Amino acid sequence: MARLLIVSNRLPISVRVDRGALCLTRSSGGLAAAMRGPHERRCAVWIGWPGSVTSLSPEQRRDADVALAGMRAVPVHLGAAEQHRFYDGFSNGVLWPLLHYLLDKVNLDAELDWEAYQRVNERFADIVVAQYTPGDAIWVHDYQLLLLPALLRRRLPGARIGFFLHVPFPSAEVFRILPWREQIVRGLLGADLIGFHTAAYRRNFAASAAHVLGVEPGEAELEHDGRRVALGVHPISIDAAEIERLAGHPGVREEAARIRAEARGRKIVLGIDRLDYTKGIPRRLLAIQRFLEREPELRDQVRFLQLAVPTREMAGAYADFRRVVHEMVGRINGQYGTTYATPIHYMHRSLPLEQVVALYLAADVMLVTPLRDGMNLVAKEYVAARVDDDGALILSEFAGASSELAEAVSVNPYDIGSVAAAVKQAIAMPPAEQQRRMAALRGRVATHDVHAWAQAFLDELDRAAAPEPEGAAA
Ligand code: G6P
Repeated sequence: MARLLIVSNRLPISVRVDRGALCLTRSSGGLAAAMRGPHERRCAVWIGWPGSVTSLSPEQRRDADVALAGMRAVPVHLGAAEQHRFYDGFSNGVLWPLLHYLLDKVNLDAELDWEAYQRVNERFADIVVAQYTPGDAIWVHDYQLLLLPALLRRRLPGARIGFFLHVPFPSAEVFRILPWREQIVRGLLGADLIGFHTAAYRRNFAASAAHVLGVEPGEAELEHDGRRVALGVHPISIDAAEIERLAGHPGVREEAARIRAEARGRKIVLGIDRLDYTKGIPRRLLAIQRFLEREPELRDQVRFLQLAVPTREMAGAYADFRRVVHEMVGRINGQYGTTYATPIHYMHRSLPLEQVVALYLAADVMLVTPLRDGMNLVAKEYVAARVDDDGALILSEFAGASSELAEAVSVNPYDIGSVAAAVKQAIAMPPAEQQRRMAALRGRVATHDVHAWAQAFLDELDRAAAPEPEGAAA
């Protein structure tokens, strides 16, 4: 039977050892969260990296592989040094900052990292080819595997291959900085369909392909190597029904009530992000500081709650960034804290989804202010959790989600003063306005959920990969 093979760098389950015992935990991040539902519903096979297994004993490694197989997950094991160059060095040291327009963070002395990136993409190709049976659809995900579509095309010329980019595709003027731009564009063009979150990302890619390879720029299709490659716009979403179900769960509602009680009548303004420099946390903290400075009479009426989920901790840029954020939180709390309260309640950890939904339910205002973000699913989760159609969302205009979530309070995250003003506006938003905006947002997220997204992408892939009907050629 034809199957769906999902291929991403990270599996949705991470394997590690905790005090000598084997642990399987849910991976964090938008991609894993989003694809979990389609993986289950479609009985798909998921191929990816399960985390570093170097500290596992041979028996634990076998046990882990068996447990993963039971979840239809196929591990791609990588050696520690190779993984470091591929993941920290190239994927997150070069591609991640470049694709998010943060050029000062790009590691351009990355020749060896690039070599590892190619090798790891080839390793993924070996495993996908070994899993593949004719008729399967292969769906490759994200910037860690940009070379994979062409590697697969070479070995499986007739396969249906889709690629989806979960991050922004930047302007061609930014992309051309990359010394390996040509190989990357060729890698992607091995797919039958390349999907993006927004029309702007798709335009940027088409312009880059035109610039780098000289292909005719097309809006929804390119010709390359005698093949047609479709370019689709498919804004990713969340499992809205699942978030809604959790938001109605009595235990989750009780937890939300506890969080509210603990705030003692103050409005709760919430931020939830991986602790990543693209998420705009320092500027958000400065906006909070500006708000506290400007609004002395509101200081005791607002509690800022920030959940910063640990991420990519082995990469130097992330360790430096963590220090900056922790120092800022300490400084602002030191300046504005009183005997009874500190303005910013900061947590550096990951929490189970039930508790995250309790936070969404408890928050009067959700502050989502990335400097750049492919989509941002936290914004959509907040909306889906607000089953009473109240609360307010403040959303960066540089998140892909802003092209869909027009009823949010839109901000430029670089403009600290206007973010401070948006916080003031959102906490004072009249209930009728909250209802009007949230009902519209929630309706949209409920209909365009992750299952509709996956279906639309796979339908387009079928059309893009279908052989020409006989006699159709002119
Ligand atoms: C973003 C990326 C994903 C990635 C996730 C978590 O959502 O688009 O590809 O999996 O962040 O990051 P990590 O490096 O921990 O996989």
